[in-house]
Amino acid sequence: MEKAAVVLAAGHGTRMRSNKAKVLHEIWGKPMIAHVVETYLAAGIDRIIVVVGHQGAEVEKFLQDYAAVEVVWQREQLGTGHAVMQARQALADGSGPVLVGYGDSPLYRPETLAKLFEQHEAEGAACTCLSAIYRDPTGYGRIVRDEEGNFAAIVEEKDADPEQKKICEINTGVGVYQREALFACLEEVNNDNAQGEYYLTDVPAILRQKGQRVALVVCPDPEETLGINTKVQLAEAAAVMRTRVLEELMLAGVSIIDPATIYIDADVKIAPDTVIYPFTIIQGKTRIDESAIIGPHTRIVDCEIGAGAEIVQSTLLESKVGRETTVGPYAYLRPNSVIGDHVRIGDFVEIKNSNVADYAKIPHLSYVGDADVGVNANVGAGTITCNFDGERKHRTVIADNAFIGSNSNLVAPVSIGEGAYIAAGSTITKDVPAKALGIGRSRQSVREGWVESRKKK
Ligand code: UD1
Ligand code: CA
Repeated sequence: MEKAAVVLAAGHGTRMRSNKAKVLHEIWGKPMIAHVVETYLAAGIDRIIVVVGHQGAEVEKFLQDYAAVEVVWQREQLGTGHAVMQARQALADGSGPVLVGYGDSPLYRPETLAKLFEQHEAEGAACTCLSAIYRDPTGYGRIVRDEEGNFAAIVEEKDADPEQKKICEINTGVGVYQREALFACLEEVNNDNAQGEYYLTDVPAILRQKGQRVALVVCPDPEETLGINTKVQLAEAAAVMRTRVLEELMLAGVSIIDPATIYIDADVKIAPDTVIYPFTIIQGKTRIDESAIIGPHTRIVDCEIGAGAEIVQSTLLESKVGRETTVGPYAYLRPNSVIGDHVRIGDFVEIKNSNVADYAKIPHLSYVGDADVGVNANVGAGTITCNFDGERKHRTVIADNAFIGSNSNLVAPVSIGEGAYIAAGSTITKDVPAKALGIGRSRQSVREGWVESRKKK
């Protein structure tokens, strides 16, 4: 049987005080809505209808990449019940249970949602609502139970009387519904409430009045159910997810020396036996192979790092680093740098849009931009590729086994041949052939006795 879901994401998100759609705010490298959609897919849901409205074009664009997601529009935001109604047509051609959830609740575990479907089936209910027990339930809809402890109604905070406000069991917003019953009851929902909205949360009580079974499942971990309305709650959710990400990595064999100082995005992949030293941030789609050493004080964004590589006190952006290569301290790899295996990129070295082949060494104080550095080449301290002529960028080629003496300027476009040498302190403006020596500096002269003769003047 098809498992479908409707995710509500059309609201204004006024309390975020932001120009960005609420569900596009990011947590550990990806928007809230991405966390939600990926969790639903992992829970075995086949079709996800996302209801968009406020800033919906941006949300729709972001969701294009998910094959199982369809977007429907709620042009006017008249409430959560009205929002679900917009998915009626999209879901008309199938049957089977529908899970309804909110785009602003990104912390659910897939198992929690899968279990909710199971219980819904097992109980033969028309609707199964997920609740949670909160120490401070302020702001949430409350679950009212009858004398037997069965579901009676959901009362929104703004409609609750003082007694109801004391109830600590809240409506998480997640529920599984029998498809036809859901849409039939939504037709009966009115907007006669404090907010003048069509509440989805009225549906379970309507079902009950019709003599249908409404089941309640209490979520064992209330942390999962956090809804994000403000940037304070966004930070709370990020804190919860951060712990999960780090714990998952450690359980998979990654050593994290001091988790309190480490920030790793949700989609980063790290292989076992890699060690992460303190004050390190690893972001985006970064992949790190086994037994690497990362940090301390390092930031890596969208990179691939090979096995056994060592990255110390450095910043690496959109680049690749090969196996057993060492980077840093204080190196800066800018986008599109591809560093081979067994390379040494040392202190105060900046590399941009360049290829550095296996066994090459750029040990100190260099700028290498728009360059191709060959196998086992040695780029001496203070070497600069002069890649920019004020208008355009040009490439520098340093072939295999070439040796660039310290403090040289290579004025691009220029190439240094295989095994060639460049004398220290040279400014090289013309190509140097293989095995040649390039010298580009004025010859030194020595004046014997110069100091004595000056004193006499
Ligand atoms: C809602 C529930 C409340 C529950 C809480 C859990 C209702 C009426 N209340 O309250 O019982 O405890 O979530 O977090 O459902 N949305 C639309 N279209 C609309 C209105 C809202 O798509 O017309 C979307 C919002 O974008 C949001 C979600 O529905 O993703 C929930 O709306 P929100 O205004 O945040 O509801 P809460 O006040 O948090
Ligand atoms: Ca909310």
